[in-house]
Amino acid sequence: MRVLGIESSCDDTAAAVYDASAGLLSNVVASQVSVHEAYGGVVPELASREHIRSIVPVVEQALAAAGSCQGEIDGIAATAGPGLIGSLLVGLCFAKSLAYALKKPILGVDHLEAHLFAIFLERQVDFPYVALLVSGGHTSLFRVEGFDKVVFLGGTRDDAAGEAFDKAAKQMGLGYPGGVAIDRLARDGDRACFPFPRAWLSQESADFSFSGLKTALRVFLSSAEGKAARQEDIAASFQEAIVEVLVGKTLAAAKRERIPRVVLAGGVSANSRLRAKADEDGNRAGIEVHFPSRALCTDNAAMVAFLGERRMSAGHASGLDLNVYAASRFSR
Ligand code: KG4
Ligand code: ZN
Repeated sequence: MRVLGIESSCDDTAAAVYDASAGLLSNVVASQVSVHEAYGGVVPELASREHIRSIVPVVEQALAAAGSCQGEIDGIAATAGPGLIGSLLVGLCFAKSLAYALKKPILGVDHLEAHLFAIFLERQVDFPYVALLVSGGHTSLFRVEGFDKVVFLGGTRDDAAGEAFDKAAKQMGLGYPGGVAIDRLARDGDRACFPFPRAWLSQESADFSFSGLKTALRVFLSSAEGKAARQEDIAASFQEAIVEVLVGKTLAAAKRERIPRVVLAGGVSANSRLRAKADEDGNRAGIEVHFPSRALCTDNAAMVAFLGERRMSAGHASGLDLNVYAASRFSR
């Protein structure tokens, strides 16, 4: 089965074609960073308008790069949520219209679940595995038992890790989006320079909290010590506080679940220190650690097309009354 995937949940307009036997045939992402950077974050109304401008050329490019005409597509998968309602509506309405015109099946895909299976575009991983999903809007742990069975283990009680990175970068004057800027600066910094707080919560907890860390950074930056500190050392120490908790809690969850396998997913899993520490600590604990290449960590439609194909070929389909949703379906 050959599936066209469409993703528009936030500020990237993306389309991709995945074929069950030939694999990923195309993966096109139109970023809106230049539109939003002046505001220091995503402006929902502008994001919707940009999606409207980009959706047709992005889908055309994805089909052309796949060497596919519309008629060769067997089904369409589109992100239905969670995300910005206006942004989601552009992608989903376009997908439904195309499905109707081509008389092809459509399937709504959950953005978070799509991230959890992105790894399969590059390698096979045995089920079950523990997945850490870390992005701009989410920081959650899951037990993944199959393409249709995802169990929520815990999530952030306040900010997501990506949000913490982005807000820290803004406070440090590093621009938007901030995760990549902190990652880059931190490479030349001392990780142990400043002891920023780690919120472990209770020992057994699979939940996260990053709001205290954000406040600690703000207080530190306005202190005399903070004003005199090297940006590289602040970035490295701040990043370490996030990474230590993410890796520690993920490996602890794997041990608790007695699952020797972990997958990292979502935009923040592109972070070089997170990847290195998860690898090192996982090795030491006898736990396999998998993460996709960076382009498949951040938002893309390849993951939507892949999960859509897996599920559609197993008989799943949505109706044309399919609607978008803003909030995650995964919580306690
Ligand atoms: O998954 P994603 O592309 O979009 C959402 O679904 O949220 O994640 C975006 C987030 C942003 O907060 C961005 O700053 C963060 O991922 N990010 C990073 C890195 N690359 C992207 N954070 C830390 N280090 C990176 N290298
Ligand atoms: Zn995402």
